[in-house]
Amino acid sequence: MKQIQMTQNPSFSLISTNKIIQMNNVWTSYDSKNFALEGINLSISRGTNYAIVGQSGSGKSTLLKLMNGMMIPSKGTIKIDYVTPNINNKKFKKMMHTIGYIPQSLGLVKNITVLENILIGALPRLTKLQSLFKKFPESEIQEAKRIMSLVGLSGKEDRKAYMLSGGEKRRVAIARALMQKPTILLADEIVSELDHVTAREIMNLIADAQKRMNLTAIMVHHDMQLALEYANRVAVIKEGRKILEIGVEGDTIVDFQTGDLNTEEIMEMYSDDTKK
Ligand SMILES: Nc1ncnc2c1ncn2[C@@H]1O[C@H](COP(=O)(O)OP(=O)(O)OP(=O)(O)O)[C@@H](O)[C@H]1O
Ligand SMILES: [Mg+2]
Repeated sequence: MKQIQMTQNPSFSLISTNKIIQMNNVWTSYDSKNFALEGINLSISRGTNYAIVGQSGSGKSTLLKLMNGMMIPSKGTIKIDYVTPNINNKKFKKMMHTIGYIPQSLGLVKNITVLENILIGALPRLTKLQSLFKKFPESEIQEAKRIMSLVGLSGKEDRKAYMLSGGEKRRVAIARALMQKPTILLADEIVSELDHVTAREIMNLIADAQKRMNLTAIMVHHDMQLALEYANRVAVIKEGRKILEIGVEGDTIVDFQTGDLNTEEIMEMYSDDTKK
């Protein structure tokens, strides 16, 4: 029976496996009265650099929390590699370590060193005993050092996290996520509050890692220009709804959501959003 199904529609699995994140009419609420997100549809292909942009309170962080199972939708479905993200779902728990999540607050442990923070990313690979005594195998320590040099942190392994600059803290958060050997990277406003030069250094670093590891990166930004510079696709969120999905092709901004809007109309819709 199974064989017949597969040969009847051989192209189906090829097309659908390309979609690593699928959200279908997703609604969610923190208080079961007001919806933080309303009817979100998203389909993200493997290896994409995807950005989410919107004004404060529009629902960007909530969207990322749904993708890593920290929140569950009130309505609609979400699939991450065909698994429903929910920390109580056994199947999802097994794949959770492949999702590198960098929260808006970065989530570093202030009083431990850079190296110790980065090694947190390797915890899921340790045995229970190793994990209990934080006894990392030499191979993991070497891997952490390799990633540190990739993100420009060589020589800083013994520095306590609270002593680092804003840019360095972000490098540590990225290194910790890369240490997980992720297939998906979720980063919430990782370059906000940084000057333009440092922001681009950090973005280039992620873009490099993304290509090298064939990561799917989903990044929340405030700055539309930065998002369009780096992302293949940009979703614009306004008051819990996705109002645009755009990208750059040559010199023009393309409407991937409806295919109807030209660059000027897109910019007008986006600037309406930012004026409010
Ligand atoms: N823990 C929470 N409890 C109740 N409401 C919340 C909670 N977190 C967020 N919200 C509400 O959900 C909506 C979306 O918030 P969210 O944090 O996703 O926005 P955001 O786009 O990430 O904003 P910002 O750019 O300021 O980080 C807002 O109205 C916010 O007040
Ligand atoms: Mg946020």
